[in-house]
Order: sequence, then C-alpha cells, then structure tokens
Amino acid sequence: MEEQQQERAACEPREAPEESVALRFQRGFLAGKRLRDLPWEDLEQILKNSEDSSPLLTVLQKHESMGAEPLEQLYEAIGDVLNTEETTQCYKSYLLPSGDAITLCESVAIISRGTTGLVTWDAGLFLAEWALENSAVFCNRSVLELGSGTGLTGIAISKACCPRTYTFSDHHECVLQQLSENIRLNGLFLPPGTRGHGVAKQETCEAELPRIQGPEITVAELDWNLVTKEWLAELQSPDVVIAADVVYDPELTQSLIGILQKLSSCNSDGEAPEVYIACTIRNPDTYCQFQTELGKVGIRWQVVPSPQKNLFSYDQHANITILRLHV
Ligand SMILES: C[S@@+](CC[C@H](N)C(=O)[O-])C[C@H]1O[C@@H](n2cnc3c(N)ncnc32)[C@H](O)[C@@H]1O
Repeated sequence: MEEQQQERAACEPREAPEESVALRFQRGFLAGKRLRDLPWEDLEQILKNSEDSSPLLTVLQKHESMGAEPLEQLYEAIGDVLNTEETTQCYKSYLLPSGDAITLCESVAIISRGTTGLVTWDAGLFLAEWALENSAVFCNRSVLELGSGTGLTGIAISKACCPRTYTFSDHHECVLQQLSENIRLNGLFLPPGTRGHGVAKQETCEAELPRIQGPEITVAELDWNLVTKEWLAELQSPDVVIAADVVYDPELTQSLIGILQKLSSCNSDGEAPEVYIACTIRNPDTYCQFQTELGKVGIRWQVVPSPQKNLFSYDQHANITILRLHV
C-alpha cells in the first residue's frame, strides 16, 4: 500500500511552488476565506526568490496553455501591477446589515505619521457591532466620540442608529483630515466650518458626492491633554460619549479620565452623559490600571454584554470589552 502511494507520488507531475500557491489563493478566495488567512507568506517567499515577475508569468502561461483567447484586460492589469509603486493608503469596505457599505481610506501601516489613528482597529468594529444591536442608545440623541480615527464606528452609527447629532473628534491633524474625507466619501453631510476652540477646519471637497439624510455632523479637534471645559461647552452637549481602543497607553489614561470628568458636568440640563468605552485588552495591567484610576476619581463602571452577531471581519480571538462608565 505504502509502496503504491510512493510510486503514484513519484509519477505525478510536481507542481511548481508558484502554481500551488496560486491554487491555494484561488481556493481560499472562492471559499470566502478572510484575506489574512490566504497564504501571503508563501507568496512573499516566492516573490523574494524570484528574480523577475515569474509568478505573474505563470498566470499568463496557464492562461495561454488553456487555449484561451488573449485577454487584453488581463495583460493590462498585470502590466499595471508590475509598474505599481508601493502605496501608503488603501480603500477598505465594511458591509452593514442593510447591505450598505462603508468605504474608508486607510493607511496600509498600523502606525503611520506618528499616529495609530489612520487605520480601523478591532475595538472600533466591535463597538460598531454593539451599537447596531443597541441603536436605542443612540437614536435621537447627541453623540460625542473621542479618538475617532478613520471614522468607522461613527459613520456606522450615523448611518444606522439615527442619532440627532454626531461629533467625531481626534487630536491629530492628519487623522482629522482623513476622517473628514471619509465622512464625505460615505455621503454624510459635513458643513464647511472654521478651526477655533477645538472645532476642526473642514476641507472643501472638490468632487460632489451624493449625500444621504443623516444627523448633524461635526468634526472637532479635541486633545484630551489640552481640552478645557470652555471648549467642551462649545460642542453639542452630549447625551452619549463613546470611544474605541483608547486605553492602550498608561500615560494617556490620565488625560482620558480627565476629559471624562470634565464631560460629566458639561451638559446644559445638568445630566451626565452615558459613556461607553470599547477596550482591547492587550496588556491586562494597562486595563486594570484604567479601572483603578477610574475608581480613584469615583467613576463607577460595568461591563456591558458583547454584541451577539459578528458583522465585520476582524480577529475573533482579540480580547475586547465594552465598559459603561457612570461619570
Ligand atoms: C488606536 S486608535 C483608535 C481609533 C478608532 N477609535 C478605532 O477604534 O479604529 C486611538 C485614537 O485615539 C486618538 N488619540 C490618542 N491620543 C489622543 C489625545 N490625547 N487626544 C485625542 N485623541 C487622541 C488617536 O489619534 C487615534 O485616533
């Protein structure tokens, strides 16, 4: 039996490594595998070992060996790939349950231009999933988001949870610019404004994009280290404050808690806002330190139930928790 198998293996034509990788890509793609589960490392190895564009040539040779008609678009596309310079940005799309897609321009590197805010983080996707299952928390209310980054969570809430107003915020110039572009790219109306007292200058958009009905939207420049009660008073008094993946640096924790304390007394009707923070627990010490510091200033917290349905593609093993803070 074993001999037969060895014989068969010896007779079978051996696949070139690039052919087997191409096949695994094809299978993975057709099986709906997530991008990160495709054999990128093997492809990288092949590209490193190849002195020319052999994997792509293999695709062409395969195409020709099947006796298929020359396909102009295929040759053009391969030519484009070969001539492409490395990009620093890409467009990613996230499908909402309605079938509507959120498309965001993001950085290809997780940290670029000195900030983590140019990519969408798992906790932002997790918080968006939770919000879509708990839309009553946001419906007809004023929402303030801290550290919005690329804007995924806020755009999802603005499109699907009917808030009255939505204020995105961040402190980094490039993040604010990318955020504004992403909001417009998704058809939400962002009126032109001016920078001052924390409200970010809006970039004028050359291309007119179709607009959808949505909440009144603001993008504010809010640095937790610099913000004052007077700045906060200029924003819509929030009924709800949210943030995702903002508990990762013990030094930041103090300033984050500082702004939450200021927000606790800034509502015109004297009521403190509801606060929800989605934390990715990478280092339990950082997470515990956040809870200890909350305790020191008398902010109570509770863990809220996780979303039941997974809508977006992200690391399902990531340890993410949403805390409701009673500020
Ligand atoms: C890890 S990213 C998370 C971005 C987004 N919430 C998400 O989940 O995809 C942290 C965000 O917090 C912002 N941030 C960090 N320090 C800040 C500060 N002192 N004031 C305001 N925003 C800050 C960063 O610019 C960045 O957008």
